[in-house]
Amino acid sequence: MRIAVTGAAGFIGFHLARRLLADGHEVAGLDGMTPYYDPALKAARLAQLAPHARFSFRKVALEDAENLAAAFDAAGPEIIVHLAAQAGVRYSLENPRAYVDANLVGAFNVLEQARALKVRHLLFASTSSIYGASPDQPFSELQPARHPLTLYAASKGAGELMSHAQSHLWNIPTTAFRFFTVYGPWGRPDMAPWRFAEAILEDRPIEIYGAGEIWRDFTYVDDLVEAMVRLIPAIPSAGAPAGPADSLSPVAPWRVVNIGRGEPAKLSELIEAIETALGRKAKRRISPPQRGDVPSTLAASELLEALTGYRPATPLAEGVRAFCDWLCEYRAATQAGR
Ligand SMILES: NC(=O)c1ccc[n+]([C@@H]2O[C@H](COP(=O)([O-])OP(=O)(O)OC[C@H]3O[C@@H](n4cnc5c(N)ncnc54)[C@H](O)[C@@H]3O)[C@@H](O)[C@H]2O)c1
Repeated sequence: MRIAVTGAAGFIGFHLARRLLADGHEVAGLDGMTPYYDPALKAARLAQLAPHARFSFRKVALEDAENLAAAFDAAGPEIIVHLAAQAGVRYSLENPRAYVDANLVGAFNVLEQARALKVRHLLFASTSSIYGASPDQPFSELQPARHPLTLYAASKGAGELMSHAQSHLWNIPTTAFRFFTVYGPWGRPDMAPWRFAEAILEDRPIEIYGAGEIWRDFTYVDDLVEAMVRLIPAIPSAGAPAGPADSLSPVAPWRVVNIGRGEPAKLSELIEAIETALGRKAKRRISPPQRGDVPSTLAASELLEALTGYRPATPLAEGVRAFCDWLCEYRAATQAGR
């Protein structure tokens, strides 16, 4: 199949593109290479994909409707997986406009392309942050998620709503993924596993917000990719729910699906797993809780399992070891290249 992946130079988009290429698909990668974190890391990911004959890449901003349309036209995809976005919960307090630009205007532009190209399936990244501080755990796709705590979560919620309307009006089969704290090799420097591991390696204290009373449903990136790949052929069809857990809309071929491991870990477990993997102890510094942080996340996985027969299962210690091994190699390679 011809599959367009936006955000292909990003953490998750890179992993997905690599897997789709290995599975024999043609992949058109699109990415704006934004400077939210070091674009050299994005370029290094792209360099891994570039040797594949079935991979093409275009640098384009989601907000640039004209060039985005040209890039999608050139790609002519049957499937769009839209992962490009302004990510990050905390940065949305600093620069909320970036979220409006990329996740509202940009997401709308992608929806318009899905309509113009009459794609067989549009899949896009939403987030577990949508559940806010809901005490109803595990988070089910059937529960209302109307109380976001950050503009990041709100912008992703708006993306879900816009895509539902377009799906209804233009009969675009659409799946919104709600990802739960993804980690692994080639990860994001702004996220806890990378920040903690780097601080430990550099003998700096790690910053723990709110005394570490934070629980997250950490999901290993290979598991996430496996779930996404299995959801591509699970095309929503109006009026044909996949069982009682299905979030399928009554009026559109549209659903949301959690992708999480369904097993929360306390922040201290993450730190201990990094310490074990690196063979070094962390220096801890406790800071006040961060505004907008949710205390805990936990995915209900019944719907993912009903649709794909799969649920993520990589143990945290195993995934963290793979991440730390990769980070040490990557740091050695980039330091040698300086
Ligand atoms: N990593 C997680 O734990 C997590 C959790 C929930 C949801 N998500 C969502 O998954 C998707 C992928 O996240 P990721 O972790 O790979 O993040 P990432 O930042 O590594 O990747 C996003 C990519 O999108 C590109 N991008 C950003 N704004 C753009 C714009 N305006 N125009 C064009 N390209 C732009 C960036 O250059 C980047 O390469 C995002 O939509 C994110 O919100 C991620």
